[in-house]
Amino acid sequence: MSEKKPFYITTPIYYPSDNLHIGHSYCTVAADTMARFKRLSGYDVMFLTGTDEHGQKIARRAEEAGVTPLAFVDHIVGNIKELWKLMDIEYDDFIRTTEPRHQQVVQKIFKRLYDQGDIYKSEYEGWYCSPCESFWLERQLVDGKCPDCGRPVERMKEESYFFKLSKYADRLIEYINTHPDFIQPASRRNEMLNNFLLPGLEDLAVSRTSFDWGIPVTFDDKHVVYVWLDALSNYISALGYLSDDDSKFRKYWPADVHLVGKEIVRFHTIIWPIMLMALDLPLPKQVYGHGWLVLDGGKMSKSKGNVVDPVVLCEKYGSDAIRYFLLRDFPFGSDGTYSEDLLVNRINSDLANDLGNLLSRTVAMIQKYFDGKIPYVDDELHEEDRHLREIALALPDKFETHMNALAFSEALADVFALVSACNKYIDLTMPWALAKEEKHKGRLAAVMYHLAESLRIVAILLTPFMPRTSPKMFEQLGVLDSTLQTWESAHEFGLLKPGGYVKKGEALFPRIQLKAEESAPQPKAKAVPAVKKATAAPKEEPVPPDVITYDDFMKVDLRTAKVLSCEPVKGADRLLVFRLDDGERERTIVSGIRKWYGEGESLVGKTVIIVANLKPTKIRGIVSEGMILSAADDADENLSVSTVLDDTHLPAGVRVR
Ligand code: ME8
Repeated sequence: MSEKKPFYITTPIYYPSDNLHIGHSYCTVAADTMARFKRLSGYDVMFLTGTDEHGQKIARRAEEAGVTPLAFVDHIVGNIKELWKLMDIEYDDFIRTTEPRHQQVVQKIFKRLYDQGDIYKSEYEGWYCSPCESFWLERQLVDGKCPDCGRPVERMKEESYFFKLSKYADRLIEYINTHPDFIQPASRRNEMLNNFLLPGLEDLAVSRTSFDWGIPVTFDDKHVVYVWLDALSNYISALGYLSDDDSKFRKYWPADVHLVGKEIVRFHTIIWPIMLMALDLPLPKQVYGHGWLVLDGGKMSKSKGNVVDPVVLCEKYGSDAIRYFLLRDFPFGSDGTYSEDLLVNRINSDLANDLGNLLSRTVAMIQKYFDGKIPYVDDELHEEDRHLREIALALPDKFETHMNALAFSEALADVFALVSACNKYIDLTMPWALAKEEKHKGRLAAVMYHLAESLRIVAILLTPFMPRTSPKMFEQLGVLDSTLQTWESAHEFGLLKPGGYVKKGEALFPRIQLKAEESAPQPKAKAVPAVKKATAAPKEEPVPPDVITYDDFMKVDLRTAKVLSCEPVKGADRLLVFRLDDGERERTIVSGIRKWYGEGESLVGKTVIIVANLKPTKIRGIVSEGMILSAADDADENLSVSTVLDDTHLPAGVRVR
């Protein structure tokens, strides 16, 4: 058997904080998803996270709380581990910088750098930001404050050991220039070069004497090691570097990727690689600086009082929905503005409507038409079957390319393109119509098989993102054979065995009622209670396949629009082009109603009903943005555009229900 290839991924190690917010979860969810994807696709994965427990900030907070720093952090670390459990973070190791296995390595590294002359003793005089644990030069301050967090800095003057960053600066610049993948996204590479490296590096103070909550310098016990030198070493101390058993270090180093927030890219792409160069070790293959989740234009922070608690969100909506949302809504390298409305919209549109309904409709139809048994396909493939297969077969490679580039949002978009292709396939093939005649039974079987098989592939690819949802999908589809749940099996279409039984289950993601809908009139029979907890979902009646749900209907944006002008489309004797006011903006719609309305003058000034969210399409070179509703008899002899009689009280832009 061939050896699995190693893959080593890390998150930053977190400062112990009582309220880790959704922004902190972002990086860990991303790393976990990537780790799960690599495990799925056959790698031997090492996924490391942990806590960064030393430094002046923690020492002060413990003092305020009247406890020892260790007692202070112990309690918080427990909560952090609980949070990761709640979010299904499956790390391979969790390192605490207060553990002896870490401390010993840091002490050895410090001594070695000192012995070889890369660390020397002097005196530091300058500025220090305690919340960021960073040293700053006068010229780097912004309005006298920390350029990273904007908080006041303190003047510091104390004896300190210094690390010769300057000695390695040229080597690092050369390395960055010849390894374009080392700092990603590329914008962060330019920022590091232009703002820090090219202006020249100063040597870095790497020990403190004014407090003692840190790892002691072995040969000078007045000093404790600077917290960033201590923290960065976790990536190799956890692998047993310089310990009696360094087998993990030999297997996994250099790391494939360090995922870090954008504000700490600096530490990971300047101090860390120089430490590694000085230790004569290879550099990590990549440092990826992701964006921040912001609220109201600012970073979430306890001091601003604008944090969003991931525990509350997971309890309310379920951790899979939160994981999906975090990685789908925001491109990974950029900042994203968080809001609960965005989250609820994502859950409703992608997870409840597109994915959840597709699965429940498919299972319900297989139950109704084939007694719950996956049918056998002996019919000739139709054009639409081939099209769906092509999308499904092209998907894993596309998905893998996006995943390897940490483009989570795009990878999910790939998967949901197949989901949406399946929904279109249902519209095209109209299984409920096929079911009406026995002679179409073979065709109906092929349609059902294609849907179930596509959903099997969707479930496989969603496993790293939503580890609770995929098993539920497999169960409902009757895919119990684990060989049909593998990454390799996602590359083939047609593996699902006829004869297996589907099993109707709970809705994957019950629709969450939006605040705006709570006040809107609801049809009695299908009223959905205001769902606050995902688990409090009502049991859904199976929806007959030829019936749409209230939710399906509500997806159509029907609204009133006032006709501003109308004229015939040149060279087309059936078409009129309308300009309409839809209450928000002017839009153009091309409509084939010239036969009944001539040049259309009688419609100008009228308020009509349009489908506003129809995908725009080009007709005779004109982009038509929607459809005007009308009623016509079967022979198309009589046609009348639907108009609103009371357009004084119902102006343009009113929702039609
Ligand atoms: O920086 N959006 O720890 P930390 C996205 N101990 N990411 C966010 C965020 C937000 N709103 N807020 C925080 C440290 N983060 C050091 C790391 S590694 C050797 C030492 C991210 O607890 C932040 O960018 O302050 C960072 O990557 C991570 O949370 C931990 O932050």
